[in-house]
Amino acid sequence: MNAESRIRLNETPEWTALAEHREELAEAHLRELFERNPGRGAAYTLQVGDLHVDYSKHLITDDTLRLLRELAAATDVFGLRDAMFAGEKINVTEDRAVLHTALRAPRDAVVEVDGENVVPAVHTVLDKMSGFAERIRSGEWTGHTGRRIKNVVNIGIGGSDLGPAMAYEVLRSFTDRDLTVRFVSNVDGADLHEAVRDLDPAETLFVIASKTFTTIETITNATSARDWLLTELKAGQEAVAKHFVALSTNAEKVADFGIDTANMFEFWDWVGGRYSFDSAIGLSLMIAIGPDRFRELLDGFHLVDEHFRTAPAESNVPLLLGLLGVWYGNFFDAQSHAVLPYSHYLSKFTAYLQQLDMESNGKSVDRDGNPVEWQTGPVVWGTPGTNGQHAYYQLIHQGTKVIPADFIGFAEPVAELSDGLKAQHDLLMANFFAQTQALAFGKTPEEVRAEGVSEELVAHKSFAGNHPTTTILARSLTPSVLGQLIALYEHKVFVQGAVWNIDSFDQWGVELGKVLAKRVEPALTEGVEVAGLDGSTTALVGLYRSLRGR
Ligand code: F6P
Repeated sequence: MNAESRIRLNETPEWTALAEHREELAEAHLRELFERNPGRGAAYTLQVGDLHVDYSKHLITDDTLRLLRELAAATDVFGLRDAMFAGEKINVTEDRAVLHTALRAPRDAVVEVDGENVVPAVHTVLDKMSGFAERIRSGEWTGHTGRRIKNVVNIGIGGSDLGPAMAYEVLRSFTDRDLTVRFVSNVDGADLHEAVRDLDPAETLFVIASKTFTTIETITNATSARDWLLTELKAGQEAVAKHFVALSTNAEKVADFGIDTANMFEFWDWVGGRYSFDSAIGLSLMIAIGPDRFRELLDGFHLVDEHFRTAPAESNVPLLLGLLGVWYGNFFDAQSHAVLPYSHYLSKFTAYLQQLDMESNGKSVDRDGNPVEWQTGPVVWGTPGTNGQHAYYQLIHQGTKVIPADFIGFAEPVAELSDGLKAQHDLLMANFFAQTQALAFGKTPEEVRAEGVSEELVAHKSFAGNHPTTTILARSLTPSVLGQLIALYEHKVFVQGAVWNIDSFDQWGVELGKVLAKRVEPALTEGVEVAGLDGSTTALVGLYRSLRGR
């Protein structure tokens, strides 16, 4: 690693200018910014594909945006972007290209890695997935006993679980309702137990999703699933071929497990786990929604990829959202970022974003290995909006922390709902609009007093406002819109990593825990003494063993 190439971000003139500008805005209030410019809402709204992005309720002016874009230019965000799209090995610590964008490229696109166009291979796998998904959906593919597959259980974790599990929820109304699709990730046996307890093994397909095919949780669950299937079917190893498929980059390990590599759907090391959802990892989802809907999803991703790749800085939405995060994280000391969807179907969306954002940008050394002297990725959190309103919104409204929040909503309810349930949509969205309004403008003590509130309660009932939010509104929640949303966040995370000069595509921070778990396990099971175990853990392991009667 070359210490000479170190970018001292916080010593650049662009950073200093932003810090000074932040001081100038110390007293600014959104109330006043909107009074000064009533057209601010329209002026600070951008559109990408079907997504309307209103960023007017942010503590920014034209000067802020200009200074942030200057920081992006100084840190060469677009240079790194171009390197990513060109297949350069921008994942420096793993010496890998970062090409999830190639997974959704059209058939005739050319994207080269080490001089080889990877797009044909992407489409070969997509075609193989489509053929398989259709065979399951039509009933042509049958299980070991000749019965039609009615249940699909995806076993994977992290990027091999969160994307398809999230998207299955989002697109439920587009799924074949005759199929039961479940997702198992936790090595806690309860997860697999609950997933299969009411399933008929003769009608169940297990999709083992693991990029490396070495992840202990996934291999353990897959082994238990295989035992369950073979025991319940009273069948031998030959039944595996009809009930297990693998999604992986590692053909050798797939074969070792006993899955025929003809039933393996491949992807490549230039697809990061948390960016793999639209690779073969999407197979369970494709089975559920069908290949055509899956293609619409990929097209949605591609639309935003093209926008990010080509739109000028002034109208580049992922750039803007990334820079707004930098503004709050680095100049307002915001520690977290809330993502609050006003759609029940997006219930797992924020959990998906947690891996995308926190595994990507939870770093404290720069791309050269030097400690960073600035804040990097935020804590990402949130749940669907109205539920949150009756739980933790209190803290966002009246607490002491700066919490920028994204509000995501849709003009139309999902088509499948009854007319009566569709009628509830306006109430849902009234809450959506009311919350960003309340957060931005608050309620002054004068307004509270004017309502006749007794003086001792005025402070309690006042809302300072000035809480920044982005509103993302689309007509309806379709596969394409989901793809657009995810790509938007992927590229937002990319922008922030580029500004902070960190490697957003490795995840060394998950390794230590894995290694220690392997060391501790024999102490739990066999009472083996683990050398070098600290006093606290030794005592806890002893307590665990005695509570288990060992
Ligand atoms: O432990 C973290 C991680 O490597 C993630 O980055 C990844 O998505 C997950 O584990 C699962 O990995 P695999 O797909 O190789 O099983």
